[in-house]
Amino acid sequence: MTVRDRLSRLRLPAFAAPMFLVSGPDLVVACSRAGIVGSFPAPNLRSSAELGDWMGRIAGQLTADDAPWALNLVTHSTSPRLPRDLEQVAEHQPPIVITALGSPKPVLPTVQAYGGLVFADVISVDLAKKAADAGVDGLVLVCTGAGGHTGDLSPLVFVERVRRFFDGYIALAGAITTGEAILAAQVLGADFGYLGTAFIPARESMASDAYKQMCVDSSAGDLMVTRAFTGARASMLKPSMVARGLDPAELEFKVARMNFTGRQDETVKPWSGIWGAGQGVGKIDRVESAAEIVDRLAAEYDAARLRTRGLCA
Ligand SMILES: Cc1cc2nc3c(=O)[nH]c(=O)nc-3n(C[C@H](O)[C@H](O)[C@H](O)COP(=O)(O)O)c2cc1C
Repeated sequence: MTVRDRLSRLRLPAFAAPMFLVSGPDLVVACSRAGIVGSFPAPNLRSSAELGDWMGRIAGQLTADDAPWALNLVTHSTSPRLPRDLEQVAEHQPPIVITALGSPKPVLPTVQAYGGLVFADVISVDLAKKAADAGVDGLVLVCTGAGGHTGDLSPLVFVERVRRFFDGYIALAGAITTGEAILAAQVLGADFGYLGTAFIPARESMASDAYKQMCVDSSAGDLMVTRAFTGARASMLKPSMVARGLDPAELEFKVARMNFTGRQDETVKPWSGIWGAGQGVGKIDRVESAAEIVDRLAAEYDAARLRTRGLCA
């Protein structure tokens, strides 16, 4: 069965999005067993060898009956690990590779050679066009309200503009935390909802208990979008800044230099303990298993489909 066949049989048209320091093998396996695409980012590992270990663990626990899983690679020009990570990719063959913060070009030959699919994570129509021209199989359109590195386009605009030139897969990201929102993404012309924040409080996530509880206790008003931590616009929880003794008001307009070399830039404040989330955070009211989250999303999705049938009559 091809990866495309497996994507057409998902229980729910959704990805659990890759999240730095949050998604690891347990979450990937739990999501894929629950019937949605599970994923994790390579920078969660310090070396390419460890990345290979994680991919081996995941591949060893999943079967062709489970949903396909995805690896997220940072292709930014300052990321020195990419060639060695790609060797591991060729060996372990993740069904889907999602590129972020750089061009998908260096990844395409390796992944498409073994029948894998490449999705590029983009925040603008220009970047979407470049990735489409490079030959990606799918695009992740990151819109306003998304957690972590966020976008500023409305999904109402972004999908329509990209569908004018791209007929591959589209996964839509940004504050999607309900089954209704997944259905809305499909109505707009996307194929999948791409959900990060909704899975931070999953029992299988690597987020600390304090981080999970902060998600339960927070709502959209507790977020700030700032370039102070990574150099790119990121949606972060203000209470986590306050807990580290930082003043959110002072950080709002600071800009860090983007750096994926693995070396700490002396001019950048250490940002461990500063936690990201998107505007859907207000929907989170408990810590539960990934399977329970997917069950709830699937029930909401099915109910929304039934409820809206009349609109199309
Ligand atoms: C805490 C956190 C960490 C993230 N880390 C990454 C990452 O390492 N790589 C990546 O491509 N996207 C990352 N993202 C973005 C997600 O993959 C996804 O685009 C986003 O969470 C979708 O918006 P939502 O959180 O509103 O659902 C992160 C998001 C969050 C909340």
